Amino acid sequence: MIFEQLFDKKSSTYTYIISSGKGREALIIDPVIESTNKYIKILKNLDLKLVKVIDTHIHADHISGLNELSKRTKCSKIMGEQSSSEVLDIRVKDNEKIKIENIELISMHTPGHTDCSYSFLMNDRVFTGDILLINSTGRTDFQNGSSHDAYHSLFKKLLKLPEKTLVYPAHDYNGKKYSTIENEKNNNPRLQVKSAEEYAEIMDNLNLEFPETMDIAIPANIKGFTLDHIN
Ligand SMILES: [Fe+2]
Repeated sequence: MIFEQLFDKKSSTYTYIISSGKGREALIIDPVIESTNKYIKILKNLDLKLVKVIDTHIHADHISGLNELSKRTKCSKIMGEQSSSEVLDIRVKDNEKIKIENIELISMHTPGHTDCSYSFLMNDRVFTGDILLINSTGRTDFQNGSSHDAYHSLFKKLLKLPEKTLVYPAHDYNGKKYSTIENEKNNNPRLQVKSAEEYAEIMDNLNLEFPETMDIAIPANIKGFTLDHIN
């Protein structure tokens, strides 16, 4: 299997390129628009055909490369059905299969960070977007976020996955690349709570600044900006 985890320094975003092997179909999760040429180069070097691109949610901290990649490769643009993106080809619901050659992902609706947040389970690993981060969890204070929804997504869905499941988030700010469900369950300080109310108490008192980029990134991601829009 080809599994490339790429890091965007500016937004601390992880992007994933996935394929069952050289010369086969590929899928990208959470691309960053400024890195489009890098992705195209990797795809070309590995003789991969990009057929699907997924955003886990409408990002507020960077402009997604979803529409630019689709413009260049004709790949299908996928998000959850709750997404406000105006450029999607496929809108998935909870528990749907997303297939490319020899690879299958299962969509999990995991709202809370935003109402359109999805995680994607691929055998031994899960792509959690911003709902579950390494040693942290995604904020719930804008884009229809909800700490109660987040609690439900975390405790009733993600933490119910097998403990050895690898966790690959959309961001990390401390240089960590992945975790496991077991590790997050036992050590993530935000997850050491007994109730949704206790979780809400933590999330409602984070007092975080809004991301500087959100006024640009959110509308750009809804409209599906391409490089033409930002150059
Ligand atoms: Fe986010």
